[in-house]
Amino acid sequence: MAKLSHEKIEKNSILLLVLILVVVSIGGLVEIVPLFWMKSSIEKVEGMRPYTPLELMGRDIYIREGCYVCHSQMIRSLRSEVDRYGHYSLAAESMYDHPFQWGSKRTGPDLARVGGKYSDEWHRLHLADPRSVVPESVMPGYPFLAETPLDARHIRERLEADRAVGVPYSEEMIAHADEDLRAQLAPGGDTDGLIARYGDKVQVRDFDGNPKMVSELDALIAYLQMLGTLVDTKSFKANEQDNDR
Ligand code: HEC
Repeated sequence: MAKLSHEKIEKNSILLLVLILVVVSIGGLVEIVPLFWMKSSIEKVEGMRPYTPLELMGRDIYIREGCYVCHSQMIRSLRSEVDRYGHYSLAAESMYDHPFQWGSKRTGPDLARVGGKYSDEWHRLHLADPRSVVPESVMPGYPFLAETPLDARHIRERLEADRAVGVPYSEEMIAHADEDLRAQLAPGGDTDGLIARYGDKVQVRDFDGNPKMVSELDALIAYLQMLGTLVDTKSFKANEQDNDR
């Protein structure tokens, strides 16, 4: 057998092409083939639940206002990101997102774990006029959110639409969507049903600081304050099998 020297490969472009394809396809196979044997690429985690009606409305406003243009919700497993934002995002954490809010372009910080980082008051000031709390901010203000009543007339249909694409909203959740939405804004009110349906981590309070009106700001802050708070990533680390870092 003639010795296959590097010189020979470099001088024969067809041979070079074939060998490149062989090498590249090995890489592809190693990445793709295991997926056929995996039951699911979504980790099993505890704590994930569908959004409450109020959070879902807030999420719709987030999308309507184009917040995703500047903010991603996907912490990559890179040291710099994990140090800044917390545990890298798990696929399970966005399994009820339609559409998901991942992304690789950020003008502002990643928001996947922003829940609980600031007070409601901070969000109210920041959303109305970002430069009142972060002087160098380039984020636009959204002062109208506090003055716009939340249009939640179609909240049941909204939940049904998500159920049609696989979010496990029960009949009961859909039937009580209106009252669950209002219950989440009324501390001291009857929240038993809401908690029974969505769990005791649901945050109940008047998010916009104006109890007289259910505003778009109420819904948006409720959504921001729950981001990244559902799954206990510390407990996930302990039983993690395929750590890629
Ligand atoms: C033009 C780009 C842009 C848009 C659009 C935008 N933001 Fe921002 N956002 C930023 C920048 C830049 C910062 C960092 C400076 C600051 O805190 O204001 C930021 C910061 C934030 C923070 C604080 C994050 C942290 O960890 O400190 C939140 C929360 C936030 N934005 C929410 C929103 C929401 C909700 C919307 C949509 C209603 C939105 N942003 C739209 C650019 C943007």
